Amino acid sequence: MRVLVTGSAGFIGFHLSRLLLAEGAEVQGFDGMTDYYDVTLKQRRHAILAEHPRFHRAEAMLEDRAALDAVVDGFAPDIIVHLAAQAGVRYSIDNPRSYVDSNIIGSFNIMEAALRHRVRHLLMASTSSVYGANTKMPYAETDKADTPMSFYAATKKATEGMAHAWAHIHGLPITMFRFFTVYGPWGRPDMALFKFTRAILDGQPIDIYNHGELWRDFTYVDDLVHGIRGLIDAVPGTQPAGPMDSLSPVAPWRVVNIGNSSKIKLLDFVDAIEDTLGRKAIRNYLPMQPGDVPATWADATLLHELTGSRPSTPLATGVARFVDWYRAYYKV
Ligand SMILES: NC(=O)c1ccc[n+]([C@@H]2O[C@H](COP(=O)([O-])OP(=O)(O)OC[C@H]3O[C@@H](n4cnc5c(N)ncnc54)[C@H](O)[C@@H]3O)[C@@H](O)[C@H]2O)c1
Repeated sequence: MRVLVTGSAGFIGFHLSRLLLAEGAEVQGFDGMTDYYDVTLKQRRHAILAEHPRFHRAEAMLEDRAALDAVVDGFAPDIIVHLAAQAGVRYSIDNPRSYVDSNIIGSFNIMEAALRHRVRHLLMASTSSVYGANTKMPYAETDKADTPMSFYAATKKATEGMAHAWAHIHGLPITMFRFFTVYGPWGRPDMALFKFTRAILDGQPIDIYNHGELWRDFTYVDDLVHGIRGLIDAVPGTQPAGPMDSLSPVAPWRVVNIGNSSKIKLLDFVDAIEDTLGRKAIRNYLPMQPGDVPATWADATLLHELTGSRPSTPLATGVARFVDWYRAYYKV
């Protein structure tokens, strides 16, 4: 298997690349090493991958079509997993253009490259944030996702639509993932687990939005990348996998939730971090942030139907593994 992984220096792309390499795949990484968060962390992830003889590293932006095309044409992938994106709900309030550039233009460039190479399967990351103001829980893929609350979610939803049309017109099989709050070792410094762990260890207060009335479906990164791996083989065709399938009636296209299927209150999440660290947080309760949603909760039936498995790592186990990594990495 020859897999192009975009966002390979990112949190999820790093873990997925490691899994694919362990399985014997040839992996072409591609990452723009953006400075949205600490670039050193991205460099370390890419350096670890580059130790593997079957990993090939490219560092360029998706919007740089000439650079992207040269990498894709040189590697000739049969699978593309497109994870590179400008992520983050809050950052999209002040920096919407970077989301258009990376997520819309960047994804379009990937779709064109995938078509030129007639890849067996193109898989692209969307987000649970596309469920937006929908209050029916847990979220199933066939539920409405027409009310994005953040510009980030809007660009991901737009990509889902572009991909559907692309699959319909060109017959190119495309799977879109909707990830639910991913956490684990080598995680993102802009996300709650990282920020809370750092602040608690430094004796600094943690910001808890909506006065703690927030619920998230925390998904452990190993479970998530195993879900991605399973979906690589579940190429959308013409037959639905079951009654829950989101398969399009007019295109080899579907969208799949990858989430833990359990809704955890943010305050219980903070308790789990405190228990692991053996220290109490200084809690700074704040109102709801614009663009945020109060809850996310995945129905992972379709993932199970397509791959035979679903996320299962308990929160306490995943948090402990993150904290172990954090302490070793930052020597604290
Ligand atoms: N982590 C989560 O909880 C979560 C939840 C839902 C969706 N997602 C999606 O999953 C994907 C991976 O997320 P992640 O958590 O690994 O994020 P990440 O920020 O760690 O990784 C994304 C990588 O893409 C690269 N990148 C960004 N813009 C680029 C561009 N224009 N050209 C080339 N490279 C670029 C960045 O340098 C980064 O290394 C993203 O598409 C994200 O939107 C993540």
